[in-house]
Amino acid sequence: MPGTPLRGRLKPPGDKSISHRALIFGLLCVGQTTIEGLLEGDDVLHTAEACRALGAKVERLGPGRWSIWGAGLGSLLTPRDTLDFGNAGTGSRLMMGVAGGHGIKARFDGDASLRKRPMRRILDPLVLMGVSIVSEAPGGCCPIELAGTSEPIPITYRTPVASAQIKSAVLFAALNSPGTTTLIETEASRDHTEKMLRHFGADVVSEAFGDDGRKIILKGRPKLTASGIAVPADPSSAAFPMVAALIVPGSDIIIEAVMMNPLRTGLLKTLKEMGADIEILDQRAEGGEDVSDLRVRASALRGVDVPAARAPSMIDEYPILAVAAAFASGETRMRGLHELRVKESDRLAAVSEGLRQAGVETAIEGDDLLVQGQAGNVRGAGMAVTHLDHRIAMSFLCLGLAAREPMAVDDDRMITTSFPSFRPLMENLGARFS
Ligand code: S3P
Repeated sequence: MPGTPLRGRLKPPGDKSISHRALIFGLLCVGQTTIEGLLEGDDVLHTAEACRALGAKVERLGPGRWSIWGAGLGSLLTPRDTLDFGNAGTGSRLMMGVAGGHGIKARFDGDASLRKRPMRRILDPLVLMGVSIVSEAPGGCCPIELAGTSEPIPITYRTPVASAQIKSAVLFAALNSPGTTTLIETEASRDHTEKMLRHFGADVVSEAFGDDGRKIILKGRPKLTASGIAVPADPSSAAFPMVAALIVPGSDIIIEAVMMNPLRTGLLKTLKEMGADIEILDQRAEGGEDVSDLRVRASALRGVDVPAARAPSMIDEYPILAVAAAFASGETRMRGLHELRVKESDRLAAVSEGLRQAGVETAIEGDDLLVQGQAGNVRGAGMAVTHLDHRIAMSFLCLGLAAREPMAVDDDRMITTSFPSFRPLMENLGARFS
């Protein structure tokens, strides 16, 4: 039987993308940067450690409150040891850009999942900027050793896939370039780096490019000014209680202060198209981003056709959207999910297999995922294999809350990479895990 209704309020932790970047900007500024609301997940803690290794003084002042005394742009130290990024694709890739734009050598590594992730997409533009690859594992994977350049060549670069990680790695390397770098993306990806560049004093212009793209022009060697930064709550973490409340009958919750950056709200839009009862309350600005409280009530969802163009604005949310689709009536088709194959796991395969274990019919057609909705009546009782992927683990734990029989996951430890308080916050709403 589905669990008891979820009731009450929660505030998800700080946004992971902004947390990584806040620490990196702290490293690149001279003087003290203070951060409020930093996500204290393992991924971000690895970035904090890398900032220390590159010359910053990083201190935890209290829960989510951190201070960084930066080494300053152009003045990073050569790290003594390998930079270990654990499970974090974002931390490692952004930092390859940072280190690549300095005349230092650095070696990058991480866990078994990170070692499988493609890094050539970052290395290709960095090589054009003058970075040398000293060594790499077969296929352009970690461990990777780079010899950066103190004079990064200003380039014009068009990203081959919509990826804020590629864009940001180039922009971070370009910060120390004597010239102007232009980055073109034909589909806009999350714009936190551009917004934060502006916040810390860089000269950066972002303009429309074609129908859905952006052109970003960054002047190198700005004077970055250390300042305070507040991290809003992560919409990608909010996604889990949001969908759980939609599928557990009788639920009614409020998720507080969720970041509403339009390049991150694709899930909200899709769930609303599916008939979700989500009210957007008290819209306001926090930390340079729009935030809102979201009231979410259990809803009878309908299957939908999710266009490929929406993928960049909800790229991390497909596993939990697939769970919502399993509880909807009718078929959901999610188009253009090629990038899901190279996340913390092959999420296309992991989601499809996990749903099948739960008794839900799915199919992968090219880059599309199809889920046959069970109109609120999902069997559960299977075991989802998580492949060291936090979002796969949380998605299937949420499925288990609403399924007829409980759902098991083979490993929940990776949840600490992005949402360490997932279990207590969900339990506070009435969820039961054993
Ligand atoms: C992120 C960008 C996305 C996303 C990741 C965080 C970022 O990756 O999946 O979790 O902070 O820039 P891609 O840019 O590679 O799509």
